[in-house]
Amino acid sequence: MTDIVPTRYPLTRPRRTRQADWVRRLTRETVLSKDDLIWALIVHDGSKPRIPVNALPGVDRLNLDQAVEAARTARDLGIPALALFPHIDPALKNEKGTEAGNPNGFVPRVIKAIKDEVPEVGVMCDVALDPFTSHGHDGVLNARDEIDNDATISRLVEQSLVQAEAGVDVVAPSDMMDGRIAAIREALEDDDFKNTMIMAYSAKYASAFYGPYREAIGSATALKGDKKTYQMDFGNTDEALRETAMDIAEGADMVMVKPGLPYLDIVQRVSSTFDVPTYVFQISGEYAQIMAASERGWLDADRAIIETLSAFKRAGSDGVITYFAERAARLLS
Ligand code: PBG
Repeated sequence: MTDIVPTRYPLTRPRRTRQADWVRRLTRETVLSKDDLIWALIVHDGSKPRIPVNALPGVDRLNLDQAVEAARTARDLGIPALALFPHIDPALKNEKGTEAGNPNGFVPRVIKAIKDEVPEVGVMCDVALDPFTSHGHDGVLNARDEIDNDATISRLVEQSLVQAEAGVDVVAPSDMMDGRIAAIREALEDDDFKNTMIMAYSAKYASAFYGPYREAIGSATALKGDKKTYQMDFGNTDEALRETAMDIAEGADMVMVKPGLPYLDIVQRVSSTFDVPTYVFQISGEYAQIMAASERGWLDADRAIIETLSAFKRAGSDGVITYFAERAARLLS
């Protein structure tokens, strides 16, 4: 903490430097840029170009061609990277989520299509089984219907290798199993994917704000119970540091806090404790809140978007995964 210089009215009038736009710009401590944006995209394996998501007005599930089109838009707007989240045909889901490990599945196909057509845009992809399991959990269940940590890890390793083989730049395990970063890192090294980055969802909380996402990827109706045995309890903050420390030690290149706005204290603590690139996910429920209120005329969405994204930067994050990336990039252009 820097020493605060003692100041006294009227020698000091903080309002002096707020009196005009030019001086507010000149004295602004945190500046949001397009380089801070990772665009969250929902992709689907059907033929329809775009399927609206009821709970995410303005976000459509995109088919493969539209996803490539979005990558072109990202490149043209200067958005550095995309984060992909798949909606999979329910007929391909099963208890073990085996489709996640299919080297010819939709996810590796869409990754490859984007990297072939728009190589200059970074592609990050979620690693977790929930889009592929019939029960909607991020892992596989044991005989007692508990999420089996170690059995899940081998599936996540397989899923990561499939994505790496397809050319993904960043694998982003969002499952919260213990020890998965080490296992994925080791497998990537062994298979000569030495440049594949890992962004660990290190401090991911069991949150009510994931609701719209689960509709978007089609896991909402399936989900049995909740995810509290693997995602973190919202009362905890020291635990977020332990989780993050483990992921860094296990080989994560970047770490993430999720959700975003209700967890700014965690973003601040993680980013000031560790000197590794730190990201935050402005998740579906946060998107929906802003959109729902603005549809009712209760707030101005454009201003709320720039304000919330700037708040993440102010809290210390190096970037934000957000469904608003395209809109924010246009506002920042
Ligand atoms: C699960 C996953 C979730 C999100 C991304 N990956 C939510 C969950 O745990 O159910 C949330 C994204 C969002 O809400 O926008 N692997």
